[in-house]
Amino acid sequence: LSEHPLAEQLLAWYDRARRQLPWRAAPGMAADPYAVWISEIMLQQTTVAAVGPYFRAFLGRWPSIESLAAAPLDDVLHAWQGLGYYARARNLHAAAQAVVRDWHGRLPHLEAELRTLPGIGAYTAAAVAAIAFGERATPVDGNVVRVVARLFAIAKPLPAARRLIEAQARQLTPAQRSGDFAQAMMDLGATVCLPRQPLCRLCPWRDACLGHAGGRPEALPVRAAK
Ligand code: ADE
Repeated sequence: LSEHPLAEQLLAWYDRARRQLPWRAAPGMAADPYAVWISEIMLQQTTVAAVGPYFRAFLGRWPSIESLAAAPLDDVLHAWQGLGYYARARNLHAAAQAVVRDWHGRLPHLEAELRTLPGIGAYTAAAVAAIAFGERATPVDGNVVRVVARLFAIAKPLPAARRLIEAQARQLTPAQRSGDFAQAMMDLGATVCLPRQPLCRLCPWRDACLGHAGGRPEALPVRAAK
């Protein structure tokens, strides 16, 4: 059980409404860390819908870190064709080799360790730590920024508000089920807390949401004029 009532409400919603995505384990099952890592790299600049087929093909061809590390780089770049941003594929290949060399072929669990690998920045390190290993880490992407800015009616403009939003997101994160919590925030942002027309009637946080109480949740977050 989580210690935070807001986290509790969101996790209960996730148990009902979670999207079935190819890299997600069945409810209550452990996720494959390698699959989580590949999916998070692919999702950095590509939509969930577009990633699906690439993810399946990639895991079918290279089902383990060892197999990816042993693959010719050209084959990996070829498999990436259509996803774009090829630096991601180069980094993935280099990181697989680093994991084999430095971590006995297993991804490290901690954010700080994950961040030492090529292509893994703050967001991806937190996502993998939480989703693959259950570490209490809080990945904050654009969806999460929007959800948190609305929940707390943070009127300070981005990008200055970023650190405040991250701190609030961390405070919400439960010690248990932190991976489900992270993915619940992503799903809430992608399916309910929509940029222009949020579907507040469907939201598990509607009664707590200060943005909703203020009457114009769609106006949040605020972006500084360029
Ligand atoms: N976007 C990035 N990572 C995701 C995940 N694990 N689930 C859904 N959307 C995502």
